[in-house]
Amino acid sequence: MADGSKAVLTIDLGAIAENFRRLQRTAPGSEVAAVVKADAYCLGAAEVARALWQAGCEKFFVAHGDEGLALRALLAVAEIYVLHGLAGEEGAAIEAGLVPVLNHPGELQRHLDQARRRGRRLPAALHVDSGMWRLGFGEAELRALDPAMLDALDLRLVMSHLACAEEPGHPLNEDQRARFEQRRALLPPAPASLANSSAIFLGETFHYQLCRAGVALYGVNPTPGFANPMAPVVSLEAPVLQVFEVDAHGTVGYGATYPVQPGARLATVPVGYADGYPRAAGGRAVARIAGTPVPLAGRVSMDLLTLDVSALPPDAVRPGTMALLIGGPDGLDELAAAAGTIGYEVLTRLGTRFVRRYIGPAPGNRTAARSA
Ligand SMILES: Cc1ncc(COP(=O)(O)O)c(C=O)c1O
Repeated sequence: MADGSKAVLTIDLGAIAENFRRLQRTAPGSEVAAVVKADAYCLGAAEVARALWQAGCEKFFVAHGDEGLALRALLAVAEIYVLHGLAGEEGAAIEAGLVPVLNHPGELQRHLDQARRRGRRLPAALHVDSGMWRLGFGEAELRALDPAMLDALDLRLVMSHLACAEEPGHPLNEDQRARFEQRRALLPPAPASLANSSAIFLGETFHYQLCRAGVALYGVNPTPGFANPMAPVVSLEAPVLQVFEVDAHGTVGYGATYPVQPGARLATVPVGYADGYPRAAGGRAVARIAGTPVPLAGRVSMDLLTLDVSALPPDAVRPGTMALLIGGPDGLDELAAAAGTIGYEVLTRLGTRFVRRYIGPAPGNRTAARSA
């Protein structure tokens, strides 16, 4: 049943498909894969992956084996890479054809044990650390590899990850690229992948054969400091629950941080930090009602926040009037800036209490099933 007291999160699948095409145009010599870990950055991996598959995406990355198994149930023929390897889930994952990203010699050995038990080579990607010191084989580990171990692998991809891709002038980008070149030369020839969303915009030398795009597909700006080249995907609207015509001097909300005078008008909406709206945005972010900016008044509560709607005519805001909390000129990146964080964090915290509304694209006819 529709609940008129709930906020509505609209996710534009058409915009996600359009962003996939834009990234593919930016890296024309490479293939763009979609990173759909963490439930497609909280937007719903099933809906998002189906839309991307219809847009022509063939390869997907998740973080965990169970995320990969859930995706396999939807997309029988897509290539699904598991970034954190398959520890503990090898059986089902290997039968489902998931491709583990092997990050260290222990993972490689386990995967080869699985292959030996099955009497066949198993597909895998190999992650090479190129200077981020987070995941991946280091140089000494690569040099120590027995070539017979690598021969026993169906090596689909050699990949690495950049630490500072969103800063085009950062010297680590080129350092990491050079180190990736040196280190992948220690391995048998295989398709290579270095770029996340931001690195797609660093130019062709970062593209290699496969780019791994996440946040840009979902509308977050991969080029901070420059105009966002991506189509907006997410909007969050909430109905006004209560309106106050202030008739005495006072303050709004917890901590009494926002003073108000008689004549001010306030509107409270049912979104708070328990829904992923950042508490740190209190007193800093703006929402919009009928296009007019309305500042947040005071602190964000767990389930509520209050807007100062004094700039709007008295009868323009009533219970049920919708306020736009994320969207238009006040998107994920702007809210993140107001809260002192990044668009990734705002996006991946969007909660489960909203009514979720998916719009576009028209259902495609590309089959996701394995042909007989
Ligand atoms: C290894 C790896 N590749 C690609 C991505 C996608 O990054 P982005 O969302 O910046 O495109 C991530 C995300 O964290 C990642 O960890």
